Amino acid sequence: MAFPATRLRRLRKSGVLRDMVRETELTPADLVLPMFVQLGEGERTPVEAMPGVDRVSISHAVEEAGEAHALGIPAVLLFGLPAQKDEQGSGAYDDEGVVQLAVRALKETHPDLVVITDVCLCGYTSHGHCGVVLEDGTIDNDLTLELLARTASSHAAAGADAVAPSDMMDGRVGALRSQLDGEGYTDLPIVAYSAKFASAYYGPFREAADSAPSFGDRRSYQMDPGNAEEAVREALLDVEEGADVVMVKPALAYLDVIRRVKEATRVPVAAYNVSGEYAMVKAAGAAGYIDERAVVLETLTAIRRAGADIVITYHAKEVAGWLSR
Ligand code: PBG
Ligand code: ZN
Repeated sequence: MAFPATRLRRLRKSGVLRDMVRETELTPADLVLPMFVQLGEGERTPVEAMPGVDRVSISHAVEEAGEAHALGIPAVLLFGLPAQKDEQGSGAYDDEGVVQLAVRALKETHPDLVVITDVCLCGYTSHGHCGVVLEDGTIDNDLTLELLARTASSHAAAGADAVAPSDMMDGRVGALRSQLDGEGYTDLPIVAYSAKFASAYYGPFREAADSAPSFGDRRSYQMDPGNAEEAVREALLDVEEGADVVMVKPALAYLDVIRRVKEATRVPVAAYNVSGEYAMVKAAGAAGYIDERAVVLETLTAIRRAGADIVITYHAKEVAGWLSR
């Protein structure tokens, strides 16, 4: 038997070059911090299942986004809590709505911070669905598209750097693209939530955004967790309609989907490490059952390794702090 010319584990054993040969890097520059913005002055409301995450009024949001930016996080993703909700989610496309006001304040103070806005109706509708609900309880897809497009253009007018439709209606990326183009926002990117699964991992978010549906569920528009091929189809369709970045959500239970979408589309892929994923790690960490920091870094590295170019995570600030030290 010939003596092997190379030893598989030599680099690992010696540790020499370990940093240089690592295949996947995790840096603050890959992260997006989601934020929940509410009205009022100097308000801060903790989200019970998400220690370290608060709903904040605009001045706090400006402060917190500044801290994140200083840590090397290039972007935030905004969710708004409106003053009032109604059947058609009019708070979403109100030019003086909470997100619109927050975008203006953020861009004024931190012009270099990338401000991405979530575009959906569920935080603004009285019934908590992502679209307009018809008498029979189904969603009016095409009317919803009009309202979503209005929302996106209102965010653009406020100065948003990118819009992220999360509603999963049919044809929404195309509807947003043509509205934005028609208004001259031809260079405004769309970060599409393309493969968004009907997931129990969104539980804590619905407390944070006060967006739990008052009847039924979201399975008529969000995806079945068993489907990966369909996720690829959704992503390809969104790219065709004009998506600049496609997103897979949640992340951890869908790493295979991230990989497949990355390979099939060859466009930048974002993955959303969602509220329930965050809540589980925080709870286990607080109980002393896991080494929280190590688990967070391992998890986010795995999401990157699966193929995510961008990771949206509530851990962004703490991770950026650890990585910069
Ligand atoms: C709403 C929306 C949801 C999330 C982002 N945008 C939840 C939902 O569909 O109910 C979830 C984010 C998270 O859980 O962190 N369209
Ligand atoms: Zn929604």
